[in-house]
Amino acid sequence: MAKDVIIACDFSSKEEVLAFLDKFEGRKPYVKIGMELFYGEGPDIVRQIKARGHKIFLDLKLHDIPNTVKKAMKVLSRLDVDMINCHAAGTSVMMSEALSGLLREDGTRPLLIAVTQLTSTDQEAMERDLWIEKPIDQVVMHYASVAKEAGLDGVVCSPLEAGKVHEVCGEGFLTVTPGVRFAQGDHGDQKRVMTPEEARKNGSDYIVMGRPITAAEDPVAAYERALKEFLG
Ligand code: C5P
Repeated sequence: MAKDVIIACDFSSKEEVLAFLDKFEGRKPYVKIGMELFYGEGPDIVRQIKARGHKIFLDLKLHDIPNTVKKAMKVLSRLDVDMINCHAAGTSVMMSEALSGLLREDGTRPLLIAVTQLTSTDQEAMERDLWIEKPIDQVVMHYASVAKEAGLDGVVCSPLEAGKVHEVCGEGFLTVTPGVRFAQGDHGDQKRVMTPEEARKNGSDYIVMGRPITAAEDPVAAYERALKEFLG
């Protein structure tokens, strides 16, 4: 199974992200494009980065009625992205409609990954605001199982949860894990972190790293370090 390091390109403009990617010269890292860049620059930024030869995870976390999500996925799939996501909270019908919207005429489609509970949501907020009273780790595993049943390819989760997700949903169900930091690195606002090596040992399939690479003095060296530690 393909394991890789995905760089979260959380920049607000085309100029910034392209200048960042220029530093990699011949290398073509897997890139995550999120809401800020996509809403700021529009779909053309995806086409431009794709044309440079990068794989793209489009992190827009869709959540709406099934028909709307299906139609949105249909147009996003035409951007030729490699991975995309939606909220498991949209329920299984929304997720399976998302999947069918992604299917291209040639029979291919991007990987579809579910967001379970956001890592910014804790037990207290979940109980108070969402009226969900089960333990949050059980909620995450339940959402992962529902996503698997709906035919999705995997979930976004903490590397700390990757092993358990594989136990519950099988080894082939992908775990895409942010919250990765180098040993002795600055954690920023990420609370529960693992190093790339620990994430590998815990069974992460893809690690997502933003600031430890984008804000590094030498981003290419930081990326190569992440690859080396993660791929072993
Ligand atoms: O800079 P950093 O490595 O913390 O970036 C992590 C990336 O992963 C960010 O783009 C963030 O939005 C995203 N993410 C996350 N936690 C989640 C889902 C996505 O940190 N649960």
